[in-house]
Amino acid sequence: MDYETILTETRGRVLLITLNRPKALNAINAQLTREVIRAATEADTDPEIGCIVITGSAKAFAAGADIKEMQHTTYAAMYGGDRFADWDRFTAVRTPIIAAVAGYALGGGCELAMMCDFILAADTAQFGLPEIKLGVMPGIGGSQRLTRAIGKAKAMEMCLTGRNMDAAEAERSSLVARVVAADTLLDDALRTAGTIAGMSKPIAMMTKEAVNRADETTLTEGIRFERRVFHAIFATADQKEGMAAFVEKRPAKFTHG
Ligand code: HXC
Repeated sequence: MDYETILTETRGRVLLITLNRPKALNAINAQLTREVIRAATEADTDPEIGCIVITGSAKAFAAGADIKEMQHTTYAAMYGGDRFADWDRFTAVRTPIIAAVAGYALGGGCELAMMCDFILAADTAQFGLPEIKLGVMPGIGGSQRLTRAIGKAKAMEMCLTGRNMDAAEAERSSLVARVVAADTLLDDALRTAGTIAGMSKPIAMMTKEAVNRADETTLTEGIRFERRVFHAIFATADQKEGMAAFVEKRPAKFTHG
């Protein structure tokens, strides 16, 4: 695929997307937005891909939305173009997505990481929503997702002061699933993604959908949703295979159906 702002590579059943605007610390412009969304949505319908990893460079996962691109934009263009609504297509991707974050994940970069299903962070990672220092505020879901992830007190402090959070604080605050050494981040992320991609793709998708419900609905509705999906799983070949493999004391061979 001829992308200009990202690199893509398939490793087994894992799609690796590397943000690649090094001169701008992977700042998220319109083209990068289009390319990430296209790569992720194409992988979503590809039965050969069971997990996606998004990463950046050692210095920056992404240092934000592209400030230079936005600088002279008007309200009419922002509103009329419904700027950033395209990311709804990214969050609609049902294939699990891991963000492997080293260095800066600021503003839109932090928001992109939070739109993934979970974050694996290098010990060099720095998270922040510093938009207020530019006279704006988070615009790709940051004020909502950060608050849900780490709670109101810390999210409010970060959004209002624009301060960064290091990897250790991010792990303590449950913003990230795990912190690893920077030089093993990618291997770790790919190994974790490989584990997920070895599961049944439809069951992994249903699991992702169910966990995401916890953020979006009441406990009663969420539990009802989970139960209905759980019942439906018994119509899949992978449920039969997974349980047969356990009983027969052998590894499961899922067919993703
Ligand atoms: C455009 C950016 C950029 C950004 C860095 N660059 N961040 N360009 N948009 N968000 C560019 C710089 O202009 C510079 O280009 C090059 O990348 C290297 O950056 P430096 O600042 O020279 O690097 P360094 O001194 O190491 O500082 C790193 C940094 C700093 C601390 C991460 O770059 C920084 O503060 N960046 C902005 C962080 C930020 O405010 N993010 C939020 C953006 S607003 P040149 O050409 O000068 O060499 C946002 C809005 C979201 O995300 C809401 C809706 C989307």
